[in-house]
Formats: sequence, structure tokens, C-alpha cells
Amino acid sequence: MNGRTILLIVGGGIAAYKALELVRALRREGVRVLPVLTEGGAHFITPLSLSALAEETVRTSLWDLEDEATMGHIALSRAADLILVLPATADLMARAATGQAGDLATTLLLATDTPVMMAPAMNVRMWQHPATVANVATLKARGVEIIPPDTGPMACGETGPGRLPEIPAVMAALARHFGRAGALAGKHVLVTAGPTHEPIDPVRYIANRSSGKQGFAIAGALAAAGARVSLVAGPVSLATPAGVTRIDVETAREMAAACEAALPADAAVMVAAVADWRTEAAAAKHKKAPGEGPPALTLTENPDILASIAAHARRPRLVIGFAAETGDLIAKASAKRLRKGADWLVANDVSEGVFGADENHVHLITAHGHQDWGPASKASIAARLVQEIADAL
Ligand code: CTP
Repeated sequence: MNGRTILLIVGGGIAAYKALELVRALRREGVRVLPVLTEGGAHFITPLSLSALAEETVRTSLWDLEDEATMGHIALSRAADLILVLPATADLMARAATGQAGDLATTLLLATDTPVMMAPAMNVRMWQHPATVANVATLKARGVEIIPPDTGPMACGETGPGRLPEIPAVMAALARHFGRAGALAGKHVLVTAGPTHEPIDPVRYIANRSSGKQGFAIAGALAAAGARVSLVAGPVSLATPAGVTRIDVETAREMAAACEAALPADAAVMVAAVADWRTEAAAAKHKKAPGEGPPALTLTENPDILASIAAHARRPRLVIGFAAETGDLIAKASAKRLRKGADWLVANDVSEGVFGADENHVHLITAHGHQDWGPASKASIAARLVQEIADAL
């Protein structure tokens, strides 16, 4: 971490005192800390102790003319390699999730494309409240890395998840973040994600249940590792992860063309649930006509994007497919890997119902066999896959 700059936003929670310990640990590692203290944070620790430990001016207000003259809030948010919010309170996360910019901390979070990490700390009931759960999900979907709180006795006397992790655990999360950064610098990775929509007529289409979450998590993790990422996305309602170039498409044929146009790439990760079939789209809406019955739809096979990228003259060095199967997972997925010419296949059993969930249970299938990665969050599967890709490239 030596030589890195972290913009540290200290929120207003009892755990704010731990931010002081963190600043000391970061300074010992040679990290420059630019401290920002929220109004709430200043009720728990003083600007003086924070600036003394950080050896930097503490910023507290959006309206500080002197700071705006030396380093305005936009420049401040760009000066750091990482923005860390610690402790991240329920209120601060709610305001960040809704894009508010009423104080310096939220303005910095809104005005930046620097990676953001948050270490939430709050009462267990606040942490488990559906509002907080939804806000955390929103922030995660936008690429914010959340350091999960610890479980244990809290200052308020209750017990449960919500405690700020101990400082060595926070330091380890930061080291992981910076260790990953750069592992894929200079590499271009193509990712497909989401479903495709195949029109039947101007108002109807064939679709599937893919949410796009796993592919977006992978694209975000690749970008965080320094890769240039082209994300070809079917219709999904997800925010583009930080640092990712997104190409929106609707149909399998549009997705195939966008992938072709994105080559050359060092690796391709084909996570999209491409519709296997399409139908000839009618120019006018199908109408119910008395006595005529339903329209007959003739299905035509869509191009297999994974197979064609794997057989391409400009084939990426590493081609990775995904396979959703119901039963007999390893045998079916191993056969699919060979049939499509992929180097690796990430397989999961969808009879367990993972669509739209944040969790997944995958197996990695390669020419050398298969590994069971066990149940895990889609974000941690993404991180692990990116690590494997970095090692392979
Ligand atoms: N895929 C693709 N283009 C298609 C269909 C699938 O690129 N037209 C890719 C998916 O992105 C995924 C992999 O192929 O990486 C496996 O998709 P899957 O739907 O499981 O494969 P199918 O060939 O459709 O096999 P099945 O008969 O089991 O549906």
C-alpha cells in the first residue's frame, strides 16, 4: 500500500474512534490519508486528533472557502486511489444510495469515479432493517465494496452483526483491494451479461430470467483489477460498474455483432443467458381474431456467441463460458465446455433457483478437472474468477 492515497470519510458513529487507529496503521504503511470528518463524526472525534494523526488538513465542510481555493471537493475526490468510508452509518449510506450531495462527504461520493469502500457500523436492528439492506444492495450494485460488519456485543448492549471489524481486518481488506489493483493492467477483457430479448412483434418478446448480476459483478471486479473491460449487456436494470465500458444490446444477433466488434481481447467471459431461439418478428402487433386461434411462432436457432468467439481467427487467449444446468451438473458442463471450445466453464445448478439472487454456487471446469467453489456471494465468485484470470494471463 506504500505510496497510495486514501480519502477517509469518518461518519458519525461510536466506531469513529477506530478511524484514528486506522489512520495510524495506514501512516505506518506509507499511505497518505486525506481525512474528511462529517458533522456527525465530529461529535465522536475531534478534527485535531484526526489531522494530527493523518498529518493533513481535515476537511469538514462543503462551504470552506479556503479548502475550495487550495483543493476543491472535485479535486479532492480525484486525488485519492480509494475512498474509504469508516464508519459508514445507516444515514450516510442512505444518502449516498439516493445520490444526495448535501454535505462534503456525500458530494465527494457523488462527484467521483474513484473506487469506494465502506465499512458499515451500526446497531444490529438498523443493519438488518430492510431500508439499510436495500441501500447496501444499491451501493454494491454500483460497485461500492462493502467490508461486512462483524458480529458480537455492541456499544448499545445488543448483540449481532453491525460491529466495525477490527482494524487489522480492515487493513487486510485494503491490502486485498490494492493487491488486486493492477493485476490485469493493460489487458482487455470482453464480458457478456444479462438475458437477450427476441422480439415477437413490436410489443412482445421472448426472454429469460437472467438478472445480469453475476456478469456485472465480474465486469466490475475485472475493472478493479486494472483491466479495460467491454461489457456487452442485454436488457437489465443494473448500474454500470465503475471503470467499465458498457455496450447495450437487445437481441442475440446484436450481442454477437457487439462481441465481434469488441475484439481483439485477451480474455472473454461469456456470462449472458443468450436466447437459444428467435422468431421472425412481425411488423405489426399480433391481434386476437375470433376463430383464428393463437399465432404459430416458428423458432430459428440463434448464433452461439461463445462457440464462435472460441473458434474466431482473433480468439482471445482465454475463453470462459457459463452454464446453467438442472441436474448432472459436472457431466453436462464438461461436455458443454468441449462442445463450445471454451477453456473454462463456470457451471451452476439452477434447480436451486439462483436467478436474481445475490448468492450462487458454482463449479469451475477446466481441461484439468473441476473445482467446487461452494455457496458464495456473486461478488466473491467474481473476485475469485478474476484472480484465476489474472493468474492465467
Ligand atoms: N451462449 C452463447 N450464445 C448462445 C447460447 C449460449 O454465447 N446462443 C453462451 C452463454 O453465454 C454461456 C454458454 O454459452 O456462456 C452456455 O450457455 P447455455 O445456454 O447453457 O448453452 P446451450 O448451448 O444453450 O446449451 P443447452 O442446450 O444446455 O441450453
